[in-house]
Amino acid sequence: MACFKSHITIRDDFCVESKAQPCGIVIFGASGDLTARKLIPALFHLFHRKLLPHNFFIVGCGRSSISSEDFRDKIAAALVDENNKLVANDTPYFKEVFYDEILHFVNRCTYVIGEYQENELYLHLSKELKVLNKKFGTGGNHIFYLATPPQLYNVIPRFLSENGLITESGETSPWSRVVVEKPFGHDLASAVRLDTELHEFLSEKQIYRIDHYLGKETVQNILIFRFANAIFEPVWNRHYIDHVQITVSESLGVGHRYGYYEQAGLMRDMFQNHMLQMMALVAMEPPVSFEPDEVRDEKVKLLQSVRKLQEDWIIRGQYTDGVCNGEAVCSYRKEKGVNPHSNRETFVAARLFVDNWRWKDVPFYLRSGKRLPQKVSEIAVFFKKVPHSIFTPISSDDLAPNVLVFHVQPEQGVSLTIHAKRPGPKLCMSSLTMDFNYEEIFGADPPDAYQRLLLDCMLGDQTLFIRHDDMQVAWTLISPILEKWEIDQTAETLYPYPAGTWGPEQSELLLKKDKRKWYSCEQE
Ligand code: BG6
Repeated sequence: MACFKSHITIRDDFCVESKAQPCGIVIFGASGDLTARKLIPALFHLFHRKLLPHNFFIVGCGRSSISSEDFRDKIAAALVDENNKLVANDTPYFKEVFYDEILHFVNRCTYVIGEYQENELYLHLSKELKVLNKKFGTGGNHIFYLATPPQLYNVIPRFLSENGLITESGETSPWSRVVVEKPFGHDLASAVRLDTELHEFLSEKQIYRIDHYLGKETVQNILIFRFANAIFEPVWNRHYIDHVQITVSESLGVGHRYGYYEQAGLMRDMFQNHMLQMMALVAMEPPVSFEPDEVRDEKVKLLQSVRKLQEDWIIRGQYTDGVCNGEAVCSYRKEKGVNPHSNRETFVAARLFVDNWRWKDVPFYLRSGKRLPQKVSEIAVFFKKVPHSIFTPISSDDLAPNVLVFHVQPEQGVSLTIHAKRPGPKLCMSSLTMDFNYEEIFGADPPDAYQRLLLDCMLGDQTLFIRHDDMQVAWTLISPILEKWEIDQTAETLYPYPAGTWGPEQSELLLKKDKRKWYSCEQE
């Protein structure tokens, strides 16, 4: 009987378990989209998995004139989809199964109404928190989550501080932490300004700058893959790796976020954060330990080693009318709320280099765009070809390189392409891919990134949050390009691409010039 089959066996399970301390979670922007779509489902699932502290409560703050009762109804509604099925990717159950748990969860939620720019809100909040801390035994520990428009990121902490709601944690005193969503600034100068303002009221240890990509399982898996396996690190360098590609594509357009997008564009929205963060994890040196600052030091060093970006290594595009997922869709300029002459980029492809010993002259190709054919995020590491083929007449050029792919979404997993002999009397070989799919192996879709990030914030673990210097070095890298684009009225280098395609043809040429092409798992 065959004892070796083509599958993956899970042998040793190691788990680092930590329990969060009691705390109250205050969400500003409680009636917004992020709260309903991400924060509430993530908190509920942590609760369901018994990862929330036993003593906790949630306060929603917002301008909508609703009662706490209405807020609880909205929360219960946000937890289930139109089929009455629980919203989350790791629990295939229906609302009824969780009825008691949902009830228990929503009973810990309260709503405080007010204007963010008026002290009255904070006076009211302060009173409410005193009552809730006593009722739920949370000891005065608070997370303040800013799920608001970015103009309020410096306003809310000021009011919180003035009302004595920000406390520096000590051995016995309670802690306060503030979570800030992106965008963190509009450019380097405004990001530094915001940072300085926040530091007037908060220490760096109290600021949790979110990049939700760092909470994605496969993104975290890059670190496990690289530093918990001895076989990859020796080949993880310029001697064995030919180049790296990072793609984050979306089939959606800008939708209702046109106001923000018209200000931001793709470079700020995706490159400054998600793309550069993923690149940093792939390329950074091994940290001394998994302590937050050790990991973040290495990310910063890596980003500091990225060679100054040059305009001709960057392709920007904007979608025109086209067909996406079988549906005719309009151009960016025709989207509701968008300036019909807008020069905002909805696509960017770039070639980056890292000037250090490990990566000198290894290109990192990054691309991201809206209205591309599908939603997919993946990191493909292309190894060098064999130096010489002994299998004449097959030359080394005929042999495709080994490619290691981290599939971030929608499928989550890792795959490796290798060559193998095809059975038979002749010498035939095939390129084949070994896949490890999270869902198949571990039996469930990995949890949403916000679960991990919210839990880490409660645990006081900043590893997966952006430190101030990390954020600044990323802005420093892209700001010169943004400034050039800003003053370039002609926008001759803003290339159109039909919605539903992989961006302008100049993006293909960027790699073609280097005798390479974009990886797509569909084409492999
Ligand atoms: C956000 C961007 O940070 O990430 C959005 O602002 C983008 O424009 C989104 O759509 C993509 O995230 P995800 O997790 O859906 O890939």
